[in-house]
Amino acid sequence: MGFLEWATSPWGQSVPIHIAWFLIWVAVIAGLLFLIVHATWLRYFAKPKEFADDAPREVVARIPKHVPRHSLVARLFHWIMAASMLTLLFTAFLPRVGVQFRWVTYHWIAGAVLTVAILFHVIHASLWLDFWSIWPDGTDVEDARRRVRRFFGMSAPPPRKFAKYPLENKLFHGVIILCGLSVILTGVFMMFRVRTIFFPRNPYLFSDMTWGLMYVLHGLAGVGLIALIMMHVYFGLRPEKLAITKSMIFGWMDRDFYLQEHDPERWVIETSSSSSSPSSSSSPSTSSRVAGQGLTDAG
Ligand code: HEM
Repeated sequence: MGFLEWATSPWGQSVPIHIAWFLIWVAVIAGLLFLIVHATWLRYFAKPKEFADDAPREVVARIPKHVPRHSLVARLFHWIMAASMLTLLFTAFLPRVGVQFRWVTYHWIAGAVLTVAILFHVIHASLWLDFWSIWPDGTDVEDARRRVRRFFGMSAPPPRKFAKYPLENKLFHGVIILCGLSVILTGVFMMFRVRTIFFPRNPYLFSDMTWGLMYVLHGLAGVGLIALIMMHVYFGLRPEKLAITKSMIFGWMDRDFYLQEHDPERWVIETSSSSSSPSSSSSPSTSSRVAGQGLTDAG
């Protein structure tokens, strides 16, 4: 049982043509196992989260009732990406498990949408959002060390609350970047193998070996995305994460959830003076800062 399928080229060379399709089931089972183990762990074994001391009272008092988290543009990007990603997964893998239809056209159209969406996201996140908010920082690393030590019963002070994104989310984003860029870069070249509206078909662009390896990378990253998207949807539906999912629909999260999980000095919320009362709602376009220095986004 090999992980790749091979063929013989017209020149007698043995070349990989794509991944072995049983890897689809490996990914689905790996995703399901992760969900079962995680849900069991959380239900029966995990201790309540403990964080270092809360932010100063005057800082907490100025957090608005609705904490802006994702701008409209960021939310639109997320849902367009989600729709194209799910279309890509279903069009790619349903035919491999017996559901036959003319999948290639839907697939490359969804691929083109995803490619444009990701190009847009890179520019938007670099120029308008807080680019660094999604990359691990020194505090994340230090807190991860503390969390691991405490997990194994060793002494360590409690970790600080999170910035805008917990370390786990930042690492997930990193893995998605790797798989996403792999399917996009290979997918754009693979469009030369089929008829699209973008450029004339040219299957002779690369050697058989290069094409084969490209299909393998596309397939590997693709099955990786099956497990990753399963995990992402699972977390999005977990009751304790619903506040985050809701923020991807409405753009804001509840003050209580924000204060429970986030450190106002690490994720600085901009508020208007009118939102200094805890019961008023916030406007992301106004200017006074709740805590700390440096601008962070509401995006
Ligand atoms: C979630 C993301 C994606 C997944 C899971 C995925 C998966 C797949 C799979 C399994 C195949 C069959 C390959 C084979 O026979 O070895 C395929 C083919 C293809 N993919 Fe994707 N893909 C994704 C994203 C993309 C993107 C972003 C593009 C374009 C930019 C793209 C363009 C193509 C094209 C043109 C083919 C057809 C190649 C052919 O029939 O010769 N894919 N994809």
